[in-house]
Amino acid sequence: MAQLEPLPAKRIHHVQDGVHIFINPYWGGKFVTDDKGALIIEMMDKEREEEKLVQLIAEKLNINPFEAAARLVTFTEHLYKRRMLGETDNVTSGTPQPDFGFLEITRKCDTRCRLCYVDSGQELPDSLTIEEIFTAIDQMAELGVENIALTGGDPLTRKDLPEILEYIHKQKKLKPAISTSLLSLTEELAQKMGDLAVAVQISLDGSTAELNDWNRGKGSFDKTMQGVQLLNNYRVPFRFACVINKHNINDIQNLVELGVRLGAREVAFGKVKLAGRAARLNEAVMPTSEEMTGAYHQLYRSDFDTRQANIKVRCKHNQALISGLDNRVGCLPCGAGRTFVHVTYNGDVIPCSLFNGCPEFLLGNIHKDKLTDLWAHSPVYQYFRETTADDIEACRNCPVKYLCGGGCRADAYLSQGSLEAGCSDCEDLLTYYDWILDRGCQAKYITAF
Ligand SMILES: C[S@@+](CC[C@H](N)C(=O)[O-])C[C@H]1O[C@@H](n2cnc3c(N)ncnc32)[C@H](O)[C@@H]1O
Ligand code: SF4
Ligand code: SF4
Repeated sequence: MAQLEPLPAKRIHHVQDGVHIFINPYWGGKFVTDDKGALIIEMMDKEREEEKLVQLIAEKLNINPFEAAARLVTFTEHLYKRRMLGETDNVTSGTPQPDFGFLEITRKCDTRCRLCYVDSGQELPDSLTIEEIFTAIDQMAELGVENIALTGGDPLTRKDLPEILEYIHKQKKLKPAISTSLLSLTEELAQKMGDLAVAVQISLDGSTAELNDWNRGKGSFDKTMQGVQLLNNYRVPFRFACVINKHNINDIQNLVELGVRLGAREVAFGKVKLAGRAARLNEAVMPTSEEMTGAYHQLYRSDFDTRQANIKVRCKHNQALISGLDNRVGCLPCGAGRTFVHVTYNGDVIPCSLFNGCPEFLLGNIHKDKLTDLWAHSPVYQYFRETTADDIEACRNCPVKYLCGGGCRADAYLSQGSLEAGCSDCEDLLTYYDWILDRGCQAKYITAF
């Protein structure tokens, strides 16, 4: 007997005034139907054998089996076209191999961002020496990472940065990347970055000096713009990373347009995290849920509007809706323990930069431990690999858990003191997803059975 493909069990189902929308988070598929269509989907969940299903439908709708069969074929074709059918078994066994090694090469910084979650400023006495940095890079290479992303503090404050970049570049399988505000970029360094094909992430928190410098300090915007000019002169690829906060919440479209104008490959947005100096500012910098709903919607639109341009607009909370999560459905929404490792300025190994200063999340230190051992055996990494939104107490019954993936666990821990808690984005995400799903529930989109 013919077997029908199932709709994914991990899916979103939202109803408004008798209109149902289903989202397939694996591929971003969307399907809108009425009460009868939703009933058929429910029956398809329970009965996969086509003949039996046709029989059941015929009885339930009081129609003859030929008509039930014909309608089922058409309905199923629509489900296929809308990328709703088929389940992806995304349980991967064994230890994953990370793509990225994040390496803090200093805590020194040439500015003092109000929101800095690592509390950067002065160089600290226990910072890694250049030899120790080489060791960390070797260990990351041994682990199989392909990209070494230098961060800090600001990596550009290290005089020996060119040697570090060369060291990475010399290892055939490694690509160097840097996160920086470009405040102290010199022509010589820009040229070196071009020669060594360094991928640069530039932090920019506003499209004007006033908006950016509120966080990044007076004069930062102009220096960053001069730096961008230098990078462009030497054809260094770059992207902008923008931290959404109360001050720049209405500046999103301008930041995207600035990115397009200046030749950024991507503009990535993420909401401010309340850690480090940002924790002390708390409510004063947190956008409201309504503001975040507006911001996510703006980013959703921008992603579509820039499809034809040579630039990507990134915001992870829209990804499941737009392009789907593929095999990341059922994983936490970050790559801790799966796609990246993080080593701090003094060699500590932590799940991600937000766990800086949390001794309970210190996995080891490269002075005494081997990254490959920690990666293979640390129970904390194991937690990040195996936990899904279904396992987190606060998320288990949440209607949008397969879109958000369970939220940032570091945020949950820092704001609520527990990995089992919801994160500080919950209210925003519930408001936003509810709003966007309601908008999808329109009679004109209905595919009836
Ligand atoms: C800590 S910085 C280090 C690298 C470099 N100094 C820079 O600013 O790009 C790394 C990234 O974290 C972001 N960041 C800093 N504080 C943050 C916060 N409270 N919430 C979210 N992102 C933050 C920065 O904007 C930057 O993109
Ligand atoms: S966010 Fe980056 S530039 Fe700003 S203080 Fe922190 S390390 Fe420095
Ligand atoms: S919105 Fe909050 S409660 Fe719902 S799944 Fe995401 S993190 Fe969990």
